[in-house]
Amino acid sequence: MKILEHTKKIAKEAGKLIVKKQGKNLKIKEKAKSDLVTDADKASEKLIIKRIKALYPSHAIIAEESAKTLTKKSYKDAEYIWIIDPIDGTINYAHGLPMFTVSIGIFKTNSSKSSKNFDYITGELVAGVVYAPKMGEIYSAEKGKGAFLNGKKIKVSKKTKLVKSLTVTGFTPQCRKKNLPYFNTMLNKSLAIRRLGSASLDLCYIACGRFDGYWEFGLKPWDIAAGALIIKEAGGEVTDTNGNQLDLFGEDILASNGKIHKEMIRTFAKL
Ligand code: IPD
Ligand code: CA
Ligand code: CA
Repeated sequence: MKILEHTKKIAKEAGKLIVKKQGKNLKIKEKAKSDLVTDADKASEKLIIKRIKALYPSHAIIAEESAKTLTKKSYKDAEYIWIIDPIDGTINYAHGLPMFTVSIGIFKTNSSKSSKNFDYITGELVAGVVYAPKMGEIYSAEKGKGAFLNGKKIKVSKKTKLVKSLTVTGFTPQCRKKNLPYFNTMLNKSLAIRRLGSASLDLCYIACGRFDGYWEFGLKPWDIAAGALIIKEAGGEVTDTNGNQLDLFGEDILASNGKIHKEMIRTFAKL
């Protein structure tokens, strides 16, 4: 699919830009409590949007740092919507850590419905790229064609028991309290828990079998769009924490190798 190749090229160009800027008197702002944005986030997003508009002028774009100016009409009738996180893991990035990515998901719409309560779009994720420039890893997937790490096919892990599984989560600033009981429970129920600080990397590590289960509350579409498709194409499962269909604009995500998914849902249901 040409669009996937274009996406990889754009992600790599943005990755090169942010690596060059890391540690070079970055302007860092706190856009909300414990939520940073740097001039590298903005430069990356500007570059990505410029490249997409040049190649696909009719496509819509939902990008983290310009999401505030988003209006429904900007994506309501678009055939494709690009969902962009210009740096996922900004706190890591701003502190010189390598766990950060450029994450780009592509959603193909099939209809947009309006109702008196809310408007929504139906469709599906058709392509996703997560590029971790400092780790030298690019994850990619196209619907129905499998998931890849640096061009090599990847598969989720084979673990069948939660107690033997390495799990991972994150704490969005507004959901720290909400996640604590889940964290405490999973500390006892799983082998161990990791906290990388990049949701897209958490998802890709499930896809390539490094992690077995992931959950988080309060993420945004740009954190999860690309990684959710990459996991599904690697044979994993992605739902909300009750096991219902994932809503990219929803409140929570549960992702796993599929084999421990039901056990995680049962564990969470008791909380
Ligand atoms: C953050 C990371 C982190 C998650 C936060 C996100 P950002 O993205 O994905 O892992 O826990 O909730 O906001 O802000 O660095 O793009
Ligand atoms: Ca993010
Ligand atoms: Ca971000």
